[in-house]
Amino acid sequence: MASNSSDNKYRRPVRSYVIRSGRLTESQRKAITSYWADYVVEFLPQPLDLNSLFPQIAPVSLEIGFGMGSSLLTMAQQAPEKNFLGIEVHRPGIGKVLHEIENLGIKNLKLICQDAKEVIDENIPDSTIERILMLFPDPWPKKRHNKRRLVQPEFIEKLSTKLQPDGLLHLATDWQPYAEHMMEVLEANASLQNQNGAGNYSQSPERPRTKFEARGERLGHGVWDLLYRKSVA
Ligand SMILES: C[S@@+](CC[C@H](N)C(=O)[O-])C[C@H]1O[C@@H](n2cnc3c(N)ncnc32)[C@H](O)[C@@H]1O
Repeated sequence: MASNSSDNKYRRPVRSYVIRSGRLTESQRKAITSYWADYVVEFLPQPLDLNSLFPQIAPVSLEIGFGMGSSLLTMAQQAPEKNFLGIEVHRPGIGKVLHEIENLGIKNLKLICQDAKEVIDENIPDSTIERILMLFPDPWPKKRHNKRRLVQPEFIEKLSTKLQPDGLLHLATDWQPYAEHMMEVLEANASLQNQNGAGNYSQSPERPRTKFEARGERLGHGVWDLLYRKSVA
């Protein structure tokens, strides 16, 4: 049968992750069983009322691909007057963060366990997010895998529509070719302004270190941070 453009709808999406079959630790498993309903927002294909997710109405920071969650937990603890939403598909990371949220009594942090591309498309209303962080997204270094990278012009355009005017987009990577790709994509987006001047990386980024970053440092990797602000107009 001849194919036509409507078939695109049924193609398998290009995923930016592989679900690893890493085992859950006992404490991650327990946390998933006990606290999922309290802190994980179930994915449904409809817009979320962000204000109703948290006990307080406050600006929301969104971290995409928080991994084991050390940066997300630190940020939520350091800014109790703000709200934080984390998106991750890796269940050990979800379990770890659930354990810590309960253990540390954190009130301003919720999680979504779903592909961030779907969450952005379906759940996040436009112009609602104060800050979006994507710290050390999988670099997919092989050329044939580059299309799996999260940072692509269309996805960055969608992220920019989710930011409030003046909102911040913060990306970091330890893979120089990905940093250069990020820079090219971000500089080409007319609604985002580089906070360090066109073509420059941020030398003093305000964010906690992440687990993936620490691993890279042990291997002698560099780090490139990119910080962009959504234009007001
Ligand atoms: C290289 S790790 C970095 C984790 C963490 N940010 C850090 O620096 O330690 C990238 C993470 O992004 C997650 N990820 C990749 N694509 C994703 C997507 N489309 N939606 C949600 N999470 C995703 C992966 O599961 C993985 O945990």
